[in-house]
Amino acid sequence: MSFDLVLFGGTGDLAWRKLMPALFQAFRHRTLPEGGRIIAVARDDLSDEQYRSRIKSRFDCVELAKRPTPDEFARFAALLHYLRMDLSQTQDYQRLAQTLNARAADSVVMYVATAPSLFTNVCEQIAAVGLNGPGTRVVLEKPLGHDLRSNRAINDSLRRVLREEQVFRIDHYLGKPSVQNLFALRFGNALFEPLWRRETIANIQITIAEELGVETRGAFYDQTGALRDMVQNHALQLLCAIGMEPPINSGANAIRDEKLKVLQSLKPWTADTIGQHVIRGQYAAGNTQGQAMPGYLQEKGVAPGSSTETFVALRTEISNWRWAGVPFYIRTGKRLAGRDAHIVVNFHPVPHPIFRTPAGVANRLVINLQPKDGLELHLLAQGAAQHQSEPALSQVHLNLDFEQRFGTERVGAYERLLLDVIAGRLNLFVRSDEQQEAWRWVEPILQHWQDDPVGPRPYAAGSWGPSAASAMIARDGYCWSEEV
Ligand code: BG6
Repeated sequence: MSFDLVLFGGTGDLAWRKLMPALFQAFRHRTLPEGGRIIAVARDDLSDEQYRSRIKSRFDCVELAKRPTPDEFARFAALLHYLRMDLSQTQDYQRLAQTLNARAADSVVMYVATAPSLFTNVCEQIAAVGLNGPGTRVVLEKPLGHDLRSNRAINDSLRRVLREEQVFRIDHYLGKPSVQNLFALRFGNALFEPLWRRETIANIQITIAEELGVETRGAFYDQTGALRDMVQNHALQLLCAIGMEPPINSGANAIRDEKLKVLQSLKPWTADTIGQHVIRGQYAAGNTQGQAMPGYLQEKGVAPGSSTETFVALRTEISNWRWAGVPFYIRTGKRLAGRDAHIVVNFHPVPHPIFRTPAGVANRLVINLQPKDGLELHLLAQGAAQHQSEPALSQVHLNLDFEQRFGTERVGAYERLLLDVIAGRLNLFVRSDEQQEAWRWVEPILQHWQDDPVGPRPYAAGSWGPSAASAMIARDGYCWSEEV
């Protein structure tokens, strides 16, 4: 199957750091269909050769195991082409159309890795030169808007020029192998499904902790904040994967219909619940791995006195028969104690204990997403010989490490997502209604914060966030996984 992949933003950060390395890995794994052409588009005046040598120098910086040999690079580079375009000029899109029409590949992927403000314009211009035919797929990175209204506006203008099946909205968390395994765990195994409900599960905790701060993205981040950057998309997609009903098949719409129902069932916010159940924080100076770190307000690009949150912890519920009353906690933040994303499913303790067990300990399933990737099942067992009349149990773990089991066979998030777009598989991409529903749900929080003079709570860089996040969960009688 021949394909043309047009990469708008071909000299941008995403192209260097993620997309080109991912395309190369697919090429190396021989999963990139043959007969492909990758056309990078940007404003710089570069020849194909100059573009290739830029990519080569970037590849010299990637980790050794993922670096091409000279021979591999020479073969990969033959796929790379460069087209200089000013994205505001219609005649430049006409040149693009000529390049693509001359070849008439089976599928054409337009990856719009540009500033979000250009998304709709690029799509309209593509359509204006007739490049929006059924063989075209358009990939859009986040953020698609910064609230419900702007998200709707973008999706409405996309709808005027493209059909929903042509739009591939990326949430790169859905491409992570660990998230694929979450779907496999739930819908490829019968073991947990009967237990996956309010009768057996006490609470669920989703943590996406980052050790890094805002790095070079201070100006962008300051306009965004953790709720828009991580909760509205990645964390809610994880919540959907945990909370959704089994889809009727593995087709994209069957999966997306079920995720949508979860988003529609999230408990609506009131001023009281936002006040009690949503904690926002902002990192202050502190220490990460023994190194002094500046506070958020000292980061480049951040407005003086900014009240942008770099941490959010919240409690919600899915109001349906399966989950009514079960708290779902979400927590994410920058400059936390470590890079650690995981989901903890805490089961109820036994109804009538006949053994002594450590306080607050019951069965728990930990789904490790990164940097570890695997499953831990925490059980209670009897270890050493016991003398007491009431024997004591302690916690033991069944530990499944996917990295060790599958090792190098595994496919990275962007590699997987790019191959899916080329093949036209929409399963791991977000439909417009899901995205809108997620915005609808976070919007009252954004509005509440706008009118709240108190601002985010400070937390020391290198900690687990403001203590109010622990107090919030403690009010339900629970604690975060690292506090057990
Ligand atoms: C991006 C956010 O979507 O996800 C970044 O914009 C964040 O702020 C990143 O750092 C986290 O992704 P990952 O794959 O490193 O967990």
